[in-house]
Amino acid sequence: MVTPNTIVVTGGAGFIGSNFLNLMVPRHPEILFVNFDALTYAGNLASLESIKDLPNYRFEHGDIRDREAIKRVWETHKPDCVVHFAAESHVDRSISGPTDFIETNVVGTLNLLEAFRAGTGGATSTRFHHISTDEVFGALGDEGLFTEETRYDPSSPYSASKASSDHIVRAYHRTYGLPVTITNCSNNYGPRHFPEKLVPLMILNTMEGKPLPVYGSGLNVRDWLYVADHCEAIWTVLTQGVPGETYNVGGNAEKTNLDVVHSICRMVGEETGKSYDDLAGLITYVKDRPGHDFRYAIDATKIRTELGWEPTETFESGLRKTVRWYIENTNWIDQIRSGEYRSWIEKNYSQR
Ligand code: NAD
Ligand code: TYD
Repeated sequence: MVTPNTIVVTGGAGFIGSNFLNLMVPRHPEILFVNFDALTYAGNLASLESIKDLPNYRFEHGDIRDREAIKRVWETHKPDCVVHFAAESHVDRSISGPTDFIETNVVGTLNLLEAFRAGTGGATSTRFHHISTDEVFGALGDEGLFTEETRYDPSSPYSASKASSDHIVRAYHRTYGLPVTITNCSNNYGPRHFPEKLVPLMILNTMEGKPLPVYGSGLNVRDWLYVADHCEAIWTVLTQGVPGETYNVGGNAEKTNLDVVHSICRMVGEETGKSYDDLAGLITYVKDRPGHDFRYAIDATKIRTELGWEPTETFESGLRKTVRWYIENTNWIDQIRSGEYRSWIEKNYSQR
C-alpha cells in the first residue's frame, strides 16, 4: 500500500486528468497534487475552476518534452508519486500529424521516467503510474476480449506511440527496478471531454442541430467507461497495485457507434424537449477513418479480483450525467471552442 505525499499529475488540465483532480484533490487534503501541463489545445484551466484555490493543489505550466522544465518541477516539489496522463490523445489528429504523438507520448514519457528515477532512486514507497489505452492491442473481431496478456498490435500512430511508451515504462521496471504500474483502459466518456471525440461531439451537435458525422458503417464497437469510474480505478492501482503490473480497466458497456449516437439523440431529446426523430435525422455517414479498428472490448477480471475495483455506472446512467453536464455547462463549452477547435472541425470533416 502506497501513501503518497506529493503527486505530480501530468496532463491534469485534460479530460481524464481534470476529472481525476476534481475528485481526488478535495478528498485527500493531506496530499499535494501538482498539475504539470503544457496547456495544448486539449488542456483547459476552466476544467479546474472549483479546485484551483485549494491549498493542496498547484499548477505548473510546462511541457514533458522539456527536460529542464521537468527538473524544475522535481526540484521544487520533490514528488514521491507520478500519475502520468499527459499525451496527444486523438486518433484522427495522429493520422493527419503523427510527429507530436511520438515526441510527447514516447519521448515525454521517457523524460518523466528519467526524472522519477533520479528523484526517488526507485524507493518502494514511491510509484510511477502510467495511463494507457486498450488501443495498443489493435482490433478484435466479433468475439473475444483484451486481457493483460493480449499481444500488442497497434494500428494508428496514436496507439503505436502509446504502445511504445508502455514498453518503455515496463523496461524501467525490469531494468532499473522502478516501481511502475500501468492501466490500459477502454474509451472514456463524461464531463469536461474535449468535443473532438465521439461522445461530446455528438452531444454538442445534437444540442445545436448540426450533422452527426458517423464514420463508415457506424458498426465499429467500443467498450465505454465512465470517467469517474476510471479515476477510481487509477487511484486503486496507484495505492494498491503491484509494482511492474498492468491492469485492464473497462466499463462492461460494449456499443456500436450507431448505438451510442442513437442513445445521445434520445437523451438530448428527453433533456431538452427536442424530437428524437429530428435529432436522429441529423446522422450523416461520412468517409471512414483509415486503419479504423473494428472492435475493442476489455476483460477487467484482474483489477476486479485482485484489487476489488468495479465500475459503478451503467452506460445509461453515465451518459445521462454526461448529457446533463454539457447542458448545464455552456460557459465551459464557450471557453474551449477556440479558433483552433473550429479549424480542426473544418479540416477533419470537410475532407470526408
Ligand atoms: P486529453 O487530450 O483530453 O488531455 C491531454 C492533456 O495533456 C492536456 O491537458 C494537454 O494540455 C496535456 N499535454 C499534451 N501534451 C503535453 C506535453 N507535451 N506536456 C505536458 N502536457 C501535455 O487526454 P485524455 O483523454 O484526458 O487522456 C489522458 C490519458 O489517458 C492519455 O495518456 C490517453 O492516452 C489515455 N487514454 C484516454 C482514453 C480516453 O478515452 N480519453 C482512453 C484510454 C487511454
Ligand atoms: P473517438 O472518440 O475518436 O475515440 P477512439 O478513436 O479513441 O476510439 O472515436 C470513437 C469511435 O467513434 C471510433 O470508432 C470512431 C468513431 N467516430 C465517428 O464515427 N465519428 C466522429 O466524428 C468521431 C470523432 C469518431
